[in-house]
Amino acid sequence: MIKTRWYKDAVVYQIYPRSFCDSNGDGIGDLRGIISKLDYIKDLGVDAVWLSPIYKSPNDDNGYDISDYTDIMDEFGTLDDFKELLEGLHSRGIKLIMDLVANHTSDEHYWFRESKKSVDNPYRDYYIWRKGRGKDGKKPPNNWTSSFGGKAWEYDETTGEWYLHLFSRKQPDLNWENPKVRQEIADICNYWMDMGVDGFRCDVITYISKKSGLPDGKFNPIFCGSEQYVVGPRYHEFIKELNAASWSRYDSFTVGEAAGITISNAYECIDESVCELDTVFSFEHLCYADMYFLVIPHRLSLKKFKKILGSWQALPKTCQNTLFLENHDQPRSLGRFTGNYSGFRYEAATALAVAMQLQRGTPFVYQGQEIGMTNCKFSDKDYQDIMFRQIMDIVKYIPFGKCLARYCFSRRARDHARTPMQWSAGENAGFSSGKPWMMVNPNYKFINANKDMSADKSIYKFYAKLHAYRKGNDVIIDGDYKDICPNSSDIFAYERKLGDKTVLVVVNLKNKAVKFKLPAEYVGRASQLQLSNYADAQERIADTKLRPYEASVYSVD
Ligand code: GLC
Ligand code: CA
Repeated sequence: MIKTRWYKDAVVYQIYPRSFCDSNGDGIGDLRGIISKLDYIKDLGVDAVWLSPIYKSPNDDNGYDISDYTDIMDEFGTLDDFKELLEGLHSRGIKLIMDLVANHTSDEHYWFRESKKSVDNPYRDYYIWRKGRGKDGKKPPNNWTSSFGGKAWEYDETTGEWYLHLFSRKQPDLNWENPKVRQEIADICNYWMDMGVDGFRCDVITYISKKSGLPDGKFNPIFCGSEQYVVGPRYHEFIKELNAASWSRYDSFTVGEAAGITISNAYECIDESVCELDTVFSFEHLCYADMYFLVIPHRLSLKKFKKILGSWQALPKTCQNTLFLENHDQPRSLGRFTGNYSGFRYEAATALAVAMQLQRGTPFVYQGQEIGMTNCKFSDKDYQDIMFRQIMDIVKYIPFGKCLARYCFSRRARDHARTPMQWSAGENAGFSSGKPWMMVNPNYKFINANKDMSADKSIYKFYAKLHAYRKGNDVIIDGDYKDICPNSSDIFAYERKLGDKTVLVVVNLKNKAVKFKLPAEYVGRASQLQLSNYADAQERIADTKLRPYEASVYSVD
């Protein structure tokens, strides 16, 4: 199979199906809901859709706990609906990538139900079982913690052993040391690709290989043990094998969710020559707009942010980047990366789009980002995510624990990204005719797709324009990247250059006017405005005062 690497000139739109569009009034988004919005997706000018998991699942972690990899979750529809969706996308020239959750399954998966039965069950070794420590074996086998808080082990009465779960106790980790497990995963990939699916987003794929002996981790209250399994000893071997057994047999695209990957090991994970993943989501750049240790808030340092992004841009061209600020696990980007954008929502949202999307890499847009959806104000009962429940349960023993946790979640909760998509100012934001599974952000009356698309300043239309500008644009796809204002804490400006073609991208990420001084090497050269989020932007680039969140793109001769 010849790999066309179509993803190099593609924008991917991520759908979190539960919150996208509900077709039958049960309050839960579904496949027929997505089918009803295919033209909306098409007109946004994206080339591929990534669907968060739609497989059978008891929904402990909203589908990231899979009980059958070859069938569709009842609430989402049927396999026939899925085939219709796939066909609907393909007929519009849009590819589909699925979410491959292969580090763990649901505890309700047949393999795990069998595995639990006895130590000599044929499926026992599909998971990671160990005897406990202490005289009576009632202490977990090591000190690793779960990403959702608490220990990463669960004791099981039936056989008196513990199983590993790096996420919830209903998400037991698969044992990738077992070749049968690896074959099962390859078979699952082939099953969907034979049906026409174009690739996978590989969930926490960097966690699949654990250090043998499962040694204790260094002290770390949040991710204790991570150094024993992030890009573990057999990671490369396992991924190469899966690539050979499945992905490389199709014209596929694979992107790994790669917490823990840094610029120092990026090359060995994504260079074309290594035949592993086509690209990864690294989270390095998000850490600079986050909270230290997920707890202590701090403001975005634009300088650090640009530096990290720049280091990824400097990878050889045989390494493809991803360009993203949002997904279903992250708070919304407005505010987080823009500071207080009051009065400038359109400008701020479009400025971020320009700053990110014209770097070298494959941009990802998360549902709602294209209309400038924002974080939501929740009270305890509104949070639906397991992470909130589990952490609140742990911190209740710590003085002020709940207050602190509430404060962190108000900024950082995964729920912010999961409120229902805001389609209209109608009932439940047009998401559902029934009671939505989680609260709708009350700002839907003025932030919704209908309103945005008919506004003079439409974020959606700007995204569509930006996507059209990128399409087939070889300077943007392949050109070199150079930060031209690395020392500015306000302006994000860079050059893209390929052969004799040069593009300058100049973005003010502040809510006030900021002076921009054109670097000497561009002074006097002819230039032409290509795109701007201000209708009256200057036709030629020069020293200027950039208005709040002004973002303009110029070609330079
Ligand atoms: C990934 C997913 C997240 C999920 C976790 C466990 O991080 O993006 O939503 O909870 O893996 O599957
Ligand atoms: Ca539904």
